[in-house]
Amino acid sequence: MKKILTKAPYKGCRDLFPKEKRLQNYLFQHMSQVAQQFGYEPYDGPLLEPVELYLAKSGEELINEQIYSFMDRGERQVAIRPEMTPTLARMIANVHREISKPIRWYSIPNLMRYERPQKGRLREHWQLNVDIFGAPSPFAEVEIWQLIAELFFSFGAKSNHFSFQINDRRIVDTLLEKLALTQEQRYKFYKLIDRCKKITPEQLTTELEQLVQSPQLRSIALEYLQLNSLKDLSQWMDRHHLAKESMATIEQAFHMGAQLGLETLLCYDPSIVRGLDYYTGLVFEVFDQSPDNRRALCGGGSYDRLLEIFGDQALPGVGFGLGDVTLVDFLSSHDLLPKTEKNNLDIYVSYQVEEAQIAALQVAQALRRQQLQVEMAPGVQKYKKVFSLADQKDIKALIFIGEEEFKKQYFQYKILATQEQGEYPLASLDEFLTKLKK
Ligand code: HAM
Repeated sequence: MKKILTKAPYKGCRDLFPKEKRLQNYLFQHMSQVAQQFGYEPYDGPLLEPVELYLAKSGEELINEQIYSFMDRGERQVAIRPEMTPTLARMIANVHREISKPIRWYSIPNLMRYERPQKGRLREHWQLNVDIFGAPSPFAEVEIWQLIAELFFSFGAKSNHFSFQINDRRIVDTLLEKLALTQEQRYKFYKLIDRCKKITPEQLTTELEQLVQSPQLRSIALEYLQLNSLKDLSQWMDRHHLAKESMATIEQAFHMGAQLGLETLLCYDPSIVRGLDYYTGLVFEVFDQSPDNRRALCGGGSYDRLLEIFGDQALPGVGFGLGDVTLVDFLSSHDLLPKTEKNNLDIYVSYQVEEAQIAALQVAQALRRQQLQVEMAPGVQKYKKVFSLADQKDIKALIFIGEEEFKKQYFQYKILATQEQGEYPLASLDEFLTKLKK
């Protein structure tokens, strides 16, 4: 017996039927429009990259647990891109000397990570990436925050729907100096901070004990994780005689952000360090304020040294990734999803007698040349059938060419929103178009 195949897509991947694709197009249009409003140019890259591109700086979790990799026929170890930043860095390394700075680029690639599929996490997702290279800090970070906020506002979100949780890796490094950890312990400490909200306080204490022997130093680290604001941070640094230079950029960035109306959106969060290894300065994640959607909507930060893996000089970059899965969850939790059930069309052209077929096709063709979206009836259709079809789609106007109309060479129309109807000679489509535009 023949094997019956499953109709389900591969685990953690989605089939995007027209309804879902319409929603995705809507998201992508907003993303592209806002990125372009800030002067960012689109780019794209390959789906496959040599694995070593990610080994260099992406971080343990991505490499050990999440990467899809295989040997190609030429015995090269390749990976399906799990993120875009290494590809972007490679592309920038090729051209940055010839382009004036800052370089502002964006892309919306699909990425694959071997994850346990759950709410907000799939194996394939699309991710808006917006990055700026060669701009001073914190100008670059603040521009990126502004862009993210404008993008959410463009979907109808309000300031109380989302917030930026921000930290600076240099602040964590100042703590690490104080804790006097080895390079390996430092790395583990970063991973522990990254997970600290996902584990129990007991687990946190146990893991911290393994890393930091001195109870005094452990309490400094625990105090750090309780900090809630830049004011707290400043006082904590004073209390423990820590050098405050590492606070300068974040303070400046918050100050600039406040002057640009972002004040209520920006929060200091000591637990944000980001799981990827290449970040060097300010790092952030944007969270939904709704308790039903706990995952980060987007994350990013500044990375000054990624180009060095290609033997280039350091060129500071700042950027973020925003996933389509978490974005849809966000829009849904705030009732901001557009209606995408029906296909949007300007005109449906029908004919009621066979002889009118060519005339109807000609009308449809002329209307399409006016940039209208026009669907054509596939055969003779009764008036009633045309109206019921119009109900299933989102059509602005209907055109009919019946027996009488064909004989006298005119057509009938109905504009559905206003219920206005009438007729025009086939030769006077222009007049109909003028009416339609009104
Ligand atoms: P990331 O934090 O790994 O950063 O991913 C950014 C966003 O992509 C997440 O906040 C989430 O919305 C979405 N995302 C990630 N993994 C999944 C998944 N398995 N399923 C659904 N959504 C997911 C990066 O990838 C950095 N390369 C971003 C960046 C660009 N940094 C600088 N420039």
